[in-house]
Amino acid sequence: MTLAQTLTDAEKLAGLDADQLRRLTGLVDHDPSRDPFPVTGWDAVVWVVGNATQAAQLFRAVYGMELVAYSGPETGNRDHKAYVLRSGAVCFEFRGAVDPASELTERHRLHGDGIADIALEVPDVDRCVAHAREQGATVLTEPHDVSDEHGTVRTAAIGTYGSTRHTLVDRSRYTGAYLPGYAARSAPGRPGPRLFEALDHVVGNVELGRMNDWVEFYGRVMGFTNMAEFVGDDIATEYSALMSKVVASGNHRVKFPLNEPSPGRRKSQIDEFLEFHGGPGPQHLALATSDILATVDVLRERGVEFLDTPASYYEDPDLRARIGEVRVPIDDLQSRGVLVDRDEDGYLLQIFTKPVGDRPTVFFELIERHGSLGFGKGNFKALFEAIEREQERRGNI
Ligand code: FE2
Repeated sequence: MTLAQTLTDAEKLAGLDADQLRRLTGLVDHDPSRDPFPVTGWDAVVWVVGNATQAAQLFRAVYGMELVAYSGPETGNRDHKAYVLRSGAVCFEFRGAVDPASELTERHRLHGDGIADIALEVPDVDRCVAHAREQGATVLTEPHDVSDEHGTVRTAAIGTYGSTRHTLVDRSRYTGAYLPGYAARSAPGRPGPRLFEALDHVVGNVELGRMNDWVEFYGRVMGFTNMAEFVGDDIATEYSALMSKVVASGNHRVKFPLNEPSPGRRKSQIDEFLEFHGGPGPQHLALATSDILATVDVLRERGVEFLDTPASYYEDPDLRARIGEVRVPIDDLQSRGVLVDRDEDGYLLQIFTKPVGDRPTVFFELIERHGSLGFGKGNFKALFEAIEREQERRGNI
């Protein structure tokens, strides 16, 4: 199978090709026939929020995403409203309860605004589910077809950490805007410039002592491989420490760093997340952009707040020695607080937002890769110190 055939429908729809994806997110060659659980790529990230109508407006107006589909009372869904938005190959669905008795109401009470489902596009739902079941995974929804006038989608869902699920979607026989049951919907006015193109990775925060179990889960159940290994000492600050490992699908399109807290002098940022999220869940989504400076400028102008990077980060002579030449002057990175890291394959630029909702839980990373396949390990200490300053302001440390 060629690389071009491994693109998801969303990636094809966004006009991305394999070369762009390789550059943006580190796609690698892969033979799915030998994979027990082949994954083509990300399908959608499903959020449950307190007000999906306003979330959809925010993600259109601020994050420059395009409304593509809708489900709600007007389309026969009396339980909740759901808005589907895209930016390049990134697809977010925002769900908010309409019926007070909706199960989304209870989920939102427990977790606040957050990610309930990281849906993955797979070529063979039944094969994936059979393998997952054999390996002891919880099958939340059995494989079944859903159809409308645009064709048929085959889908199923398995459980992962916390109350997070992975819906598996084969949309090869479907031409509609999103899924059967959703109406195509666009918003008036021309969409502005696209601010990000693809989803790079989704980080999960799991319980103390459970990281290796979840790394093993992704290996055994979903055929993912370990990409990189960090030990606690690598990413300890004065006050807290965490452990992190990264698993990836065979083609490296889907990458899941998994964090667990490790006992430190005070409460770690992972502990804070677990407390306010009410258990494990997705912590941050990394959005790949080809121009992080332009994206940060637009988002900041529209009111998005980023973590501060201290001037000392840029003044450190070790930083300049470590990162070498990058495509923009360091002053341009510093004026925006963009971090830079280099490894043997190249470098990356990255920046982190403050939490997107009311609780100190889920947030975004913007990432611009130039060859590096890493996650900014060299920045972890600076990043965690910045998070801890925010944590301290919230009185949670
Ligand atoms: Fe990240």
